[in-house]
Amino acid sequence: MNSFDGYREIVQQGLLELQKDIQPPSLKEQINYFLSLGGKRLRPSLLLAGCDLFNGDIDKALKPALGIELFHNFTLMHDDVMDAAPLRRSKETVHQKWDESTAILAGDAMYASAIALVARVNSRILPEIINLFCTTSIEVCEGQQLDMLFEKKENIYMDDYLEMIELKTAVLLACALKMGALIGGADEKDTDQLYQFGKNLGVAFQLQDDILDVYGNKNKFGKQVGGDIKSGKKTFLLIKAIELGDDSIKHLILKKNKTDSDINKIISIYDKLNIKKLATMEMEKCYTNALLNLYNLKNVNKYYLNQLKEFAQGMQVRES
Ligand code: IPE
Ligand code: IPE
Ligand code: MG
Ligand code: MG
Ligand code: MG
Repeated sequence: MNSFDGYREIVQQGLLELQKDIQPPSLKEQINYFLSLGGKRLRPSLLLAGCDLFNGDIDKALKPALGIELFHNFTLMHDDVMDAAPLRRSKETVHQKWDESTAILAGDAMYASAIALVARVNSRILPEIINLFCTTSIEVCEGQQLDMLFEKKENIYMDDYLEMIELKTAVLLACALKMGALIGGADEKDTDQLYQFGKNLGVAFQLQDDILDVYGNKNKFGKQVGGDIKSGKKTFLLIKAIELGDDSIKHLILKKNKTDSDINKIISIYDKLNIKKLATMEMEKCYTNALLNLYNLKNVNKYYLNQLKEFAQGMQVRES
């Protein structure tokens, strides 16, 4: 029987194999640097788990799983440029260590390699897999663009925020699970249900990322804590604080070069309004919705279903 630790190990080994022959040679150093920084390998693990749920052959799912992880790493490399982030997985980001052009090109090359890997499936399901992957890629771009646009806007509704995180983050988790289901031979109803599970899981995951961005432990989180506040990101925490009627925060968040003292003032407003608790409750609600989707799955392997439930439950207490 396979476990989530096992999936991660299989993915790690697969990535190491890939890293020997990264293309193009002129960007190999940067791509290998980024892929060697670690990461939870969540999405490829979910893809393999999705395949196991339907008693599929996970050997057939490995190449697409590696493709999904490469795609994820490409989005992170470009995201770090957009967010002007100095740290990723506790190390310098690529644009910081080299420069922006290098980060853009290394990301592009990873994206192209990702497509080639995702396409390594049975020709019977290839059109659906490619269609799913392209649709997801475009949705991620849309989500990222909304994320950037919202930085400049003063008032963002919670529903718009939720739509934005569904696009930038949740659809990729859903896509990974759906690919696993398709490779594993699931029927349409179960495939759709697993996709919905991935979306709810992904929304919960991004809410948690927003909470950790303010309240995480820097050494464990591996990213700059307070980065979202610094760049004026419209997160659940900020939107909630504004909703609860604290206008002083609006003035602070719009300041161009925020000092540590500005950031601390914003965090003390969050604390006063009990924002961490409210965000955590919303996150838990989304995890619960995700788990409910799992109960609707019909033709699945019970052992792997149970394992996926436990894994999703465990994700609620992650620190990185
Ligand atoms: C980071 O994803 C980007 C978000 C969607 C929050 P992960 O938290 O999965 O990053 P790694 O791959 O484990 O570093
Ligand atoms: C990540 O959003 C979404 C994508 C990379 C597509 P964030 O900007 O919150 O991710 P982190 O916090 O930098 O990992
Ligand atoms: Mg970012
Ligand atoms: Mg971002
Ligand atoms: Mg974040």
